[in-house]
Amino acid sequence: MTVEKSATPRRLTPKDFQRTGPGTLAGRYMRMFWHPIFHSVDLKPGKAKPIKIMNVEYTLYRGEDGEPHLTQFRCPHRGAQLSVGWVEGDSIRCRYHGWKFGSSGACVAQPAEPKPFLEQIKLTTYPCRDYLGFVFAYLGEGEPPEMPRYPDFENFDGVLDHDSCVRGCNYYNDMDNGGDHAHSGFAHRNNPGSFDGFAECPAIDAEESDWGMTIYSRFTNDTRISQFGMPNIMHFKGQPSDHEVAIFRELLSWWVPIDDESHMLFLVARVEVTGDKAREYMERRERRLAARVAPGMEIALRVLRGEIELDELDPSTCDLLHIQDHVVQVGQGVLPDYDAENLGHSDRALILRRRIWGRELKALLTGTPMKHWHYAREKLKISRGAMERVYEEQRELRIDKKPSS
Ligand code: FES
Ligand SMILES: [Fe+2]
Repeated sequence: MTVEKSATPRRLTPKDFQRTGPGTLAGRYMRMFWHPIFHSVDLKPGKAKPIKIMNVEYTLYRGEDGEPHLTQFRCPHRGAQLSVGWVEGDSIRCRYHGWKFGSSGACVAQPAEPKPFLEQIKLTTYPCRDYLGFVFAYLGEGEPPEMPRYPDFENFDGVLDHDSCVRGCNYYNDMDNGGDHAHSGFAHRNNPGSFDGFAECPAIDAEESDWGMTIYSRFTNDTRISQFGMPNIMHFKGQPSDHEVAIFRELLSWWVPIDDESHMLFLVARVEVTGDKAREYMERRERRLAARVAPGMEIALRVLRGEIELDELDPSTCDLLHIQDHVVQVGQGVLPDYDAENLGHSDRALILRRRIWGRELKALLTGTPMKHWHYAREKLKISRGAMERVYEEQRELRIDKKPSS
């Protein structure tokens, strides 16, 4: 792997932002941070999964003691896929010839070798741990930085509601959508609680913060404020997914590249419901998920091929909000050419994000200091602004129609 270095910064291209394979500029930058890589609940003790993050395949397994482990994808013997092997205690054994690797990556068994050469073999492992319902991993080199914590999501009376999806386009399409509240009145125009873009579009503004960027969407009467965290995080207030509870929720989301043409959107919402209400909330959530007829991306691709119409979808049988975003973002092109864009005033958040990102990438390229980003919740104002007002105004209508998603 060659790592590009240059004393004088060159002009960055869209590919510098979009490509995240090893050795790429964005790939090197992204690997300096912790990222969610999997839903904790989907990784059962004693089981292994193959995963791909930023164009690299890995083996993720959970030891029988419940601890997650992340290793290189293939067995160092002759390259078999380790995820089809067996988890034994906190170790993993390859299914091909039975080599076994401890949680540190040390080879501890080579059953077919009359003279084992264990000390010469090492499986590459990566730091990972469960947090907020996701497995987080550090995929960079050297000692990992301290893993960021979000205390408001750790200690509160309520439940964490996870709502993630795979989106079939470059992660930067989605990053650019973060804080682009001009799209909500069109892409999500008919959703409960959405404003109508023809009736009123917010004026978008953004400024750099200690964590990344504060984004303002100014409506006539109030302002929605969301926080972007470097390099790929949002903290914002979103409308309820469960209209019986109707609580505006604080959400954290991450855009994590799978490869250059798809990414995973990890979302966790903090829902302040307790006791029976919490149980009923989760039961309704399970029913909504069970009623979905097909993966959202599959439906979105049918819409994009002109086989079905977006406005005809029944929100009670699909993941409508995400499908609306899939359609507009995948529709931009899987790897769009930024040079063909014509950006306006409403694109101020994405312009600032790319400027900040560009500054950091150039610092990485030239070996000059990069900014240290810091999440301090008490300094980060978050408000849903007009959305809560619109949602309340539509409440009666919504109850009449009894939407189920
Ligand atoms: S390929 Fe894994 S033990 Fe042989
Ligand atoms: Fe959206």
